[in-house]
Amino acid sequence: MPTRSGLFPRNFKKSFPVASRGEGCWIIAEDGRRFLDASGQAAVVSIGHGVPEIGRAMAEQSSQIAFAHTSQFHTAQAEKLAERLLAMAPANFRNGGRVYFTSGGSEATETAIKLVRQYCLEAGRRDRYRILSRRQSYHGSTLGAMSLSGNVARRAPYEPLLAEWGHIAPCFCYHCPFEKTFPHCELACAEDLQTHFGAGKKTDIAAFIFEPVVGATLGAAAPPEGYVARISELCRTNGILLIADEVMSGMGRTGKAFAVQHWGAEPDLILVGKGIASGYAPLGAVLVSARVVEAYERGSGAFMHGFTYQAHSVCTAAGNAVLDYLEAHELFDGVNAAGQNLRGALAPLQSHVNVGDIRGLGLLLGVEFVKDKATYEPFPREQNIAEKIRQACLEESVLTYPTQGCVDGLRGDHILLAPPFTISPEECALISRALQSAVAKVFAA
Ligand SMILES: Cc1ncc(COP(=O)(O)O)c(C=O)c1O
Repeated sequence: MPTRSGLFPRNFKKSFPVASRGEGCWIIAEDGRRFLDASGQAAVVSIGHGVPEIGRAMAEQSSQIAFAHTSQFHTAQAEKLAERLLAMAPANFRNGGRVYFTSGGSEATETAIKLVRQYCLEAGRRDRYRILSRRQSYHGSTLGAMSLSGNVARRAPYEPLLAEWGHIAPCFCYHCPFEKTFPHCELACAEDLQTHFGAGKKTDIAAFIFEPVVGATLGAAAPPEGYVARISELCRTNGILLIADEVMSGMGRTGKAFAVQHWGAEPDLILVGKGIASGYAPLGAVLVSARVVEAYERGSGAFMHGFTYQAHSVCTAAGNAVLDYLEAHELFDGVNAAGQNLRGALAPLQSHVNVGDIRGLGLLLGVEFVKDKATYEPFPREQNIAEKIRQACLEESVLTYPTQGCVDGLRGDHILLAPPFTISPEECALISRALQSAVAKVFAA
């Protein structure tokens, strides 16, 4: 399909409206069409679109000093944001924790992979390097991050390029991989981690990474009570680090600053991205707990890693301005109530025969569509249900985030809802109406 665009698009077979303006939960296209952003794009936008204070803060920083290389300088904006993030994090990040800023989530994952490896060297455990992860997960699109990811479709074209370090079972009660039911399952999915550690067996495993609430791949699947605690315990007893990938679930989206705080967990590293600058600038970060920092401080003192644009002053200025806005408007505190509003608005959908599950935490919600509600049987992949729902919602001017594969990597259709924290009850009602109309259309036959 030849076009005059010079842009290499995500999909040559699709056409994309040109976004020209944002206002709160709305994106306005060049041709005047208005779209309600029910997914915060990809669970990115927390404070809403078009907040002028953020642009002003970025312009102000840029006019002072836009760029200073981290091999030669630190900047006040990066220092300030690091302090604020550590203050929001679990206790083991205070008194000695540090923050490594990146330009997005995938870079945060890559940084974590290398941080863990060098931590092992600093700690005299040279034989350790492998990072275990879970099937049905996503940690980013770069090759290291993709090696950790268990998202079947996103990995498929690149399989020959990917390292295989080991994936354990996902934690997904709605389609339990062990076909068990909580609590009788005795957290078999958490115990799966232990299968990698035999008694007296020598190991090269250095860490375990997980999304506390699985975003894109499983459509906001939160773990049952006890899962995060058991995983944390197994990491501790086996002497490996725990990495929480909170690129999607962090920065207040689930109702706490970081999702692990729902369960009182203290991971060794926390990865953030997306909401950290609410889409106003490309920014991500690795929060490094005090004990990991200490190993570097006592050891070589230098992390053999770096990106030209890490800790960029304008991006961290955006991060600070977003946090200022969240605090001034008490938006963190409003996530639970807004999430309840959205769930309440979605309630009429639940009785539809093809709506299998509405799940999630705070403002990270998923709606899964099934062929058979009693058996949770998914639709055949070829029917492309998630994409059809997205299309039908778009016709109602509501933007959603569709994904296939939540059941087995290929089958299973869901959409993700992750609107800005400013979503109003009226806008929640619009989202629900669009979804009800989409469901009626897609499942009409
Ligand atoms: C949990 C998780 N980790 C990492 C990433 C990668 O982040 P980015 O796309 O900013 O590189 C994503 C992106 O969707 C994500 O959801």
